[in-house]
Amino acid sequence: ATSGLGTEIVSVVNKLQDVFTAVGSSASQIDLPQICVLGSQSSGKSSVLENIVGRDFLPRGTGIVTRRPLVSTSLVLDSYISADTFAVTSQVLQLINRPASAPQANGSPKTDKTADGDKHANENEWGEFLHLPGQKFYDFNKIRDEIVKDTEAKTGRNAGISPLPINLRIFSPNVLTLTLVDLPGLTKVPVGDQPKDIEKQIRDMLLKYITKPACIILAVTAANTDLANSDGLKMAREVDPEGQRTIGVLTKVDLMDQGTDVVDILAGRIIPLRLGYVPVVNRGQRDIDQNKAISTALEHERQFFENHSSYKGKAQYCGTPFLARKLNMILMHHIRATLPDIKARISQQLQKFQAELQSLGGANGDTSASSVVLSVITDFCADFRTTIDGGTNDLSLNE
Ligand code: GDP
Ligand code: NA
Ligand code: MG
Repeated sequence: ATSGLGTEIVSVVNKLQDVFTAVGSSASQIDLPQICVLGSQSSGKSSVLENIVGRDFLPRGTGIVTRRPLVSTSLVLDSYISADTFAVTSQVLQLINRPASAPQANGSPKTDKTADGDKHANENEWGEFLHLPGQKFYDFNKIRDEIVKDTEAKTGRNAGISPLPINLRIFSPNVLTLTLVDLPGLTKVPVGDQPKDIEKQIRDMLLKYITKPACIILAVTAANTDLANSDGLKMAREVDPEGQRTIGVLTKVDLMDQGTDVVDILAGRIIPLRLGYVPVVNRGQRDIDQNKAISTALEHERQFFENHSSYKGKAQYCGTPFLARKLNMILMHHIRATLPDIKARISQQLQKFQAELQSLGGANGDTSASSVVLSVITDFCADFRTTIDGGTNDLSLNE
């Protein structure tokens, strides 16, 4: 289930960061597109994000659980990165926009103030909320508790909603600096403390995120509902009519009636989508209640597709790992598209540097720094070309 692309994208971003550092550019950050989930309430949006991230930390459940946008930066896009890429990814971690006061990756987070006060399984991985600066959460269950707590603090306990995002940063050695946005689901009838115009309020909240051209939309539809009724697909089409940044995600494939499947949808015979659809199996409510581990859930998902008569032959195009791979490819495309601009910025920087040298000491000033920079760029371009051009072939197809 491992996709090598995850590893490559981390090293590509890493190299870009190196180039920026080498030329002393202030742009020490490569901006990747945000990834947003879009769909009806309880279609499985939070579950999909959580599976992509590979960590349990989002509140999920029946009814309206996600009532505010949750903006999480620096999440693990690719939880399938193998252990041998640890060194590469931890450099990415150091270059992500972490506060200056944060300890180095090889420092001792033990001495910091912790939000949970317990022993932690992994001291290199923690979350921090914008509204609780400096508090490190090493226990991801406590992250979920805090999301619930702060949602209630801002929206009350009776299904109210708020456009105020919760900002969470996860710091991890396996991290690719990236923003994922978990959004409330589209709903039509107000319940509890919800305003009469709940449908419009949620729509407006979602539009703020999904209209951005740099937003990748995961349009989530439960496979046991009719695709033609999909709120997520409908709204995605409004903001992305060409389908250039919308991926269809079909959840609850395990809950479909016997004898039915999503094969026709995957083949583009129902509502074609340029970037295609990915069927997934997330944890059901009972799995959540029983605290089924994410690794167990992913293994269950793999077995489901490999053993199902409808999906057996194309199991590699099903499930969370394929979704992560698709996302990686889209991010690679994005990086490639921004490359000319990055090159232009670097060469501008270089020209400015050379002009400064001239004015200081004439043509025989010390140019070793610029030649170092040049060789970094040359190396980078060579690596970049093989990595990117090798991985752009099958972006659109499910089979
Ligand atoms: P959201 O409201 O769209 O964010 O949906 P959640 O992720 O909170 O999930 C809503 C409910 O559907 C929860 O009880 C989940 O356990 C359940 N669920 C989500 N995806 C699946 C799936 O693929 N299979 C099954 N059986 N249940 C799912
Ligand atoms: Na829900
Ligand atoms: Mg949710």
